[in-house]
Amino acid sequence: MTLADSRERFARTLAAIRQHQQGHHGWGVLHRTLGELLASRYPALDRLLNAVWTARPHISDAHLITLIGAAVRQVVLNDQNMAGLFGSQVSPATRLGLLRELVGRREEDLTEALCGHSNSFTGARRFLVPQLIIGGFAMANQLSEVRFLDIGTGLGILPRQLNNRIVYDRFSRNLDWSPRAPGYRKIPLASRYGIDAPPLPDLDWVRTCHGPSPYYEERFEELVWSLRETEGMKEKVTLRELDMLDIPELARFIAEKEFNVITCSFVLFQYDMRIQDMVKNCILTNMASPGLFLVMNPSHGLLRQGCRVEGHLSGDPAVLHLADVSDAHFIGTVTRGADLRTVIGEEGDGGD
Ligand SMILES: C[S@@+](CC[C@H](N)C(=O)[O-])C[C@H]1O[C@@H](n2cnc3c(N)ncnc32)[C@H](O)[C@@H]1O
Repeated sequence: MTLADSRERFARTLAAIRQHQQGHHGWGVLHRTLGELLASRYPALDRLLNAVWTARPHISDAHLITLIGAAVRQVVLNDQNMAGLFGSQVSPATRLGLLRELVGRREEDLTEALCGHSNSFTGARRFLVPQLIIGGFAMANQLSEVRFLDIGTGLGILPRQLNNRIVYDRFSRNLDWSPRAPGYRKIPLASRYGIDAPPLPDLDWVRTCHGPSPYYEERFEELVWSLRETEGMKEKVTLRELDMLDIPELARFIAEKEFNVITCSFVLFQYDMRIQDMVKNCILTNMASPGLFLVMNPSHGLLRQGCRVEGHLSGDPAVLHLADVSDAHFIGTVTRGADLRTVIGEEGDGGD
C-alpha cells in the first residue's frame, strides 16, 4: 500500500470514528480538528503520518488515531498556551490554528511519541469478565493450577485484580449479565505474569491516554483506586518488557513458563489482521494444554461502542464467541455468547 493509499484510508477511518456514539470521551473536538488539518494538506502533518507508517507499517488506523490523541494531550498538559485545543469556549478556526501550530512546533516530539509508544488506556473494570470465564474454565477442566499471562498488560493491573473480591464486588454492581452471569469462582492461580512492549508504560502515560473529560477522570480514579487496593499483590505479579511481535521470543517465553491461561485485552486491534493471526497462532501452539486464550477487543475496531470477547482453546484455531459487552469500559451489560458453555462447561457455569 502506498503512503497516499494509507492517507486516504486513515481519513476514512477518522471520519468513521467521529460517528462513534459515545459522546463523553472528550476526544471528539480533536478528531474534528485533525480531520480539518488533514484535509488542508498541512506538510508537517503529512510528514508526521508518513514517518509513522514507515516505522510502523502494521499499525491500525484506529490505534494511530487514539495514539495521536494521547501524544497531543501530552503536549497540551505541559503547555498552557495549547489548552484551548480541548476547551469548549474556543472557535473551530482557533482550534485548527492551535493544532497546526502544535504539530509544526512539536513535530519531532510527536514523531518520537507516535513511533515509540502505544496507546495504553487501561480499563480498571475489564477483569470482571475474565474473572468469571477463567474461573469457570479452571473448574470445568479441574485445573489444580492456573499459570497466567496477560499480554499488553500496561501497568499490570489485571493480573493483580484477579481473585480480589473487594475490587470485583465494587465494579460488578454496574455490570449486568444477560440472561445471567456464570458463578464467581476463585481461580487457582499459581503464577501471574504480565508483558508489554518496551518501554513499559508508567502511570503518567496511562493518564495521558485517558480522554480529557469528567467521564475519563472517573475511569482514571478507579484505576488509581484499584492499584492501591491490589498493592499487596504487586510483588506476586512479574512484569516484563516483551514485544509480542518478536514471535520467537514470545513462543519461547510461553513454552518455558507453561502458561495455560493467557489474556490479551484491547491490544490486538492495534495491528492489522495478518499480525493478529500471527500472534494468535504463536500463542495457541505454544501454550500448555488444556489451555485458554481469551481475547477482548473493541467492537468493530473502535468504530462503535462495546467489546467482543472471544476465546480459543490451546492448539485449536477455532474462534469461540464468549460474550459481547455493551461498553468497552465494562459498565452496562454483558451478553453471553453462543460458545460460552463450551469453555466453562455446565459445572463452571453454576453459581457459587
Ligand atoms: C489499550 S492498552 C490496553 C491495556 C489493558 N490490557 C486493558 O485492556 O485495559 C494496549 C496495551 O498493549 C500494549 N502493546 C501494544 N503493542 C504491543 C506489543 N507489540 N507487545 C506487547 N504489548 C503491546 C501497549 O503498550 C498497551 O499498554
